[in-house]
Amino acid sequence: MLTEDQVRQFHEEGYLFLPETFSPEEVAILKSEAEDIYRQERPEVWREKSGAPRTAFAAHLYNEAHGLLARHPRMIKPVEQLFGEQVYMHQYKINAKASFTGDVWQWHQDYGTWARDDGMPEPRAMNIAVFLDEVMPINGPLMLVPRSHTRGVLDAAHDTSTTSYPLWTLDEKTVTEIVEAGGIVAPTGKPGGLLLFHGNLVHGSAGNITPYPRKIVYLTLNAVSNYIRKPTRAEWIAHTDFSPIIPTDEGALVRYARSLQQQAAE
Ligand code: SIN
Ligand code: MN
Repeated sequence: MLTEDQVRQFHEEGYLFLPETFSPEEVAILKSEAEDIYRQERPEVWREKSGAPRTAFAAHLYNEAHGLLARHPRMIKPVEQLFGEQVYMHQYKINAKASFTGDVWQWHQDYGTWARDDGMPEPRAMNIAVFLDEVMPINGPLMLVPRSHTRGVLDAAHDTSTTSYPLWTLDEKTVTEIVEAGGIVAPTGKPGGLLLFHGNLVHGSAGNITPYPRKIVYLTLNAVSNYIRKPTRAEWIAHTDFSPIIPTDEGALVRYARSLQQQAAE
């Protein structure tokens, strides 16, 4: 459960960062499974123009460890608490931000895309993310504009050329104005850090030219009553299974990691 202070901070700033929330053992399995997924040729694995992995969609549906993270109480409960109702998985993705070639994510608001492309009625969905690698100031951390979630849906243009992934992006004038008001923060830290942010919070990330990959897994959880009304994207990008998520127990992911280790030792 989030404390009263944390809930207040989320509402005021539009985000919450909880360092080292998943243990090294939990992160290790999620990370090695992510690396295995990136090696697979499948439509859900989206690549940069260079061919390096950019993101793996819907990994919770074809990978058991990620299936357990998708139902982990540390991911589900805070969002249920903030929305005051059960949630379902709108999108699940593991962003690679590969060493040397990881490309930018232009400035955007997530709810802008969910409203325009998926027909989501209200900004009652949000991303909750776990760092799978150390996120540093130098390897393309996610940058957030504090308090920008209070401005509603800003005008955006559909960019289909800058990166391999189409995105509704904000123009420089808009970003300059909101950054003058709110500044920019880039939460960094060890693997296992947990970051959640409001669907209207403006964010983006620079390219990664360092040898250090920056993998982050994002669950987009939507309040069940706020299910999408006009899906236009592939099912594995914007899910249409609106069943409420029933969380696992606290130890399910660790037990699974240990069972794999035991099998390997036998
Ligand atoms: C996103 O905004 O959806 C992803 C940005 C990132 O992983 O840097
Ligand atoms: Mn985003």
